[in-house]
This record gives sequence, structure tokens and C-alpha cells, in this order.
Amino acid sequence: MRILGIETSCDETAVAVVEIDDNLNCTLLSNVVASSMDLHVQYGGVVPEIAARSHIESILPVIDEAVTPVGWDMVDGIAVTYGAGLGGSLLVGVMTARTLAIAKDKPLYACNHVEGHVYANFITKADLSSQFLDLRKNPDAGDSKNQDLRSKISYQLPAEPPKFPILALIVSGGHSQLVLFRNHFDYRLLGRTQDDAVGEAFDKVAKMIGLPYPGGPSVGALAPSGDPYAFELPKAQMHSINPALQDLRRQFLDLRKDDQSGDSKNSDLRSKISYDFSFSGLKTAVLRRAQEMIGQDFTFPSKNLSGALSEAQKADIAAVFQRVAIETVVDKTIAAYEEFSPASVVIAGGVAASSELRRQLEGRLPIKIHYQDPKLCTDNGAMIATLGAFKLKLGQPTADPYSLEIQPNLSM
Ligand code: KG4
Ligand code: ZN
Repeated sequence: MRILGIETSCDETAVAVVEIDDNLNCTLLSNVVASSMDLHVQYGGVVPEIAARSHIESILPVIDEAVTPVGWDMVDGIAVTYGAGLGGSLLVGVMTARTLAIAKDKPLYACNHVEGHVYANFITKADLSSQFLDLRKNPDAGDSKNQDLRSKISYQLPAEPPKFPILALIVSGGHSQLVLFRNHFDYRLLGRTQDDAVGEAFDKVAKMIGLPYPGGPSVGALAPSGDPYAFELPKAQMHSINPALQDLRRQFLDLRKDDQSGDSKNSDLRSKISYDFSFSGLKTAVLRRAQEMIGQDFTFPSKNLSGALSEAQKADIAAVFQRVAIETVVDKTIAAYEEFSPASVVIAGGVAASSELRRQLEGRLPIKIHYQDPKLCTDNGAMIATLGAFKLKLGQPTADPYSLEIQPNLSM
């Protein structure tokens, strides 16, 4: 069966078709992304109004590009992101998907964007005809505003899908969370950020030291020329335990009591660990440190910092910040691995493309981590098509195409 996935939660208009077989193997048949990133770069972050307008311009051509190699007759269902994300952006995708579901008489599946990031990891094959089409909005491209960066490219896909129970670290520009999946559609949130997402912290620190948006790749590119131990930055100590985690711990404790093999002292210690994150203090600590480096106090405006810092100082800031931000999420992932002994550890979301994250995790986890090709880590339609494919195949409820609403604050 083949599912069309539509993703418009932020600045990427992204549509893909994924095929799922009876053994639940997923093959990517097409993958098209029209990013409006270039239009946001000058503002140092995504401008919601520009993103929404750009989705309106791109959505129909992008759907055409993604469906043409497959054909509408071969599409068995439509999946769409209905949250979380920017309201105006989500609306364009959801209204388009609702209309298509009615006009083409296909079942509609409402997908959670964050859950979708995890499902990108179930794609293990790509058909030769699949293409990655990047229709970038380039304001300098004159009349032909849509610069067509069409390329048939290959994907570095994982050989096997992850196995349940899966511990998923979902890290992007909008989300930082740890989720334990016991099976498809049976998961518990272990913890999440209480303020900024880790990708957002990368974006803000990049802006502070004069690097382009998005900050993850630009900080990642500068960091190797700095000293990651040039100075220290604080890691936030979190104590909050959310109700889903409390509930899960109670169940785990009961299981351990049953088999009598549990190490009660260790599980007692673990039951105090919080899997919540906080990155706003880290961002402020970087600002204070940068002000000190140039001999100024906290009144020195952050927008003037990049002009006053030397290249070597910027490189050290990038290196120390990247190490500490990544260590923060890796520390919690290791603790969750030790507490819940999952069969697979998956990293998902834009920051999963970070080579520093992969390096640190590989160095500390006793099992291989599961991650996807970087093109399928950042926002894409394939992750939503894959989540929709599992919903269709496993008999999950469909959405009503006459009434599905967006949910900008949807959580897992
Ligand atoms: O998943 P995504 O495309 O969009 C959201 O759902 O937010 O993630 C975008 C985020 C940005 O904050 C960007 O700086 C970060 O992912 N990012 C990276 C890398 N590539 C993108 N962070 C670290 N290293 C990268 N290579
Ligand atoms: Zn995302």
C-alpha cells in the first residue's frame, strides 16, 4: 500500500510517497521538499507569515512532483501533519489534505509531527525512481523565483528498522524530548524541554556569534576549529518528573518485584532522575561568557557581539557550546537507556543530523544507535507518509476530512 505524506508545520513544504508491505517494510517512492529557508535567513529565524505564504505558493506543485512518479490511482491514503507547528503553516497542509481526501476519495490520517520524526527511521529502502527535489525560494534568482535544484540522489538508509521497545531522542528546532515506545502507537513521554529546544539554542548561539541560520549546521562547521574545553558552561539540573514517567516507573517496579532479580537500590536511585531538559540558561551563560571575553559586562548588547569577538574566540564558543549542549541530551539518553533497557535507541529530528551527537552517543552507548540519512532527519514528507502508512496498515482510526482541525500545541 502507498501513502502520500504532507508536511507543512514550519518552513518546509514537503510531500512524499512511501510504500509499506505486509511485513511492514517501508520503501520511499518520492520525496520532494520546497524550503523557504532562504527567505528567512536575513531575519535569523523563521518568520511565520512568510512561511505560510510560501506554503500556499508551493503546495500544489510539490504534491504534483511527488505523485507523478507513482500516480494517484496507486495512492491508498493521505497522511498530513496537524500539529505541532506554526498555525498558518499547518493550515495550508491540513486544508489541502482534507480537500484531496474528499476529491480523490482516499482515507485521511492525522499525524503528530514529532512522532513522524521517529517514524522516518522505519524507511529502509528507496526505489530508484525516488528523487529529492529541493525547490528553494531564492530571492536573488530573478524572475525564476523557484530555483530548481532537482537532483536524483541516493539515501544512506538504515539496513533494518528499529526494534521495540525503542528509546527515541527527538531533538529539533521546536522539540527536545525523550520518549519510550513499547510498540507502535503505545508510547510514554519520559521528559522534554521546559523552555528552548536544543536546535533553537544552536540557532540563537549561532546568531550571537554571527553565524547564519540554521545554527546547527553552522555551529557544527565552526566547532572543529575551536577548543571544546576552552572553558566550562553549566548544565541545567532538572528535578521535575512528569506523570507519564511516574506511571511507567511504577509499572517497571512491579515487574522487577515479580521476577525478584531487581536491584532495588539502583532502581531507587534511578527513580529520582528527571528526563526534562532546559536550554535557556545555557544560552544566557554563552552570552555572559562572550561578554567577558571582550572585557564587557552584561549590558553589552548581544547584537554587537559578533563584531567584537575574534575568529578564535567564536570558534571556542561554538566548540564549547556544541559539546555541552550535546552532552546534556546524551547524559539523559544514557540514563534512560540504563533505566529502561530498550532494544533500540533512535535519534530523530533536525539535530539528529549532528555528527557530534552521533559521535558522543556512539562513544557511550553499548548498542548501535539508529539514525536516518540527514535528508530525512530535518522536516520532510516521508516521515509523515511512513507514520500514515503504519496507521493504515495497523488499523488506526482515520480523520474526518470534513472536520480535521490543526493543533499547533499538540504534544506526545
Ligand atoms: O526537525 P527540523 O528540520 O525542524 C523542526 O521540527 O524544528 O529541525 C531544525 C533544527 C534547527 O534548529 C537546526 O539548527 C537543527 O535542526 N539542525 C542541526 C543540524 N541540522 C539541522 N543541529 C545540529 N547539527 C546539524 N547538522
Ligand atoms: Zn521537525
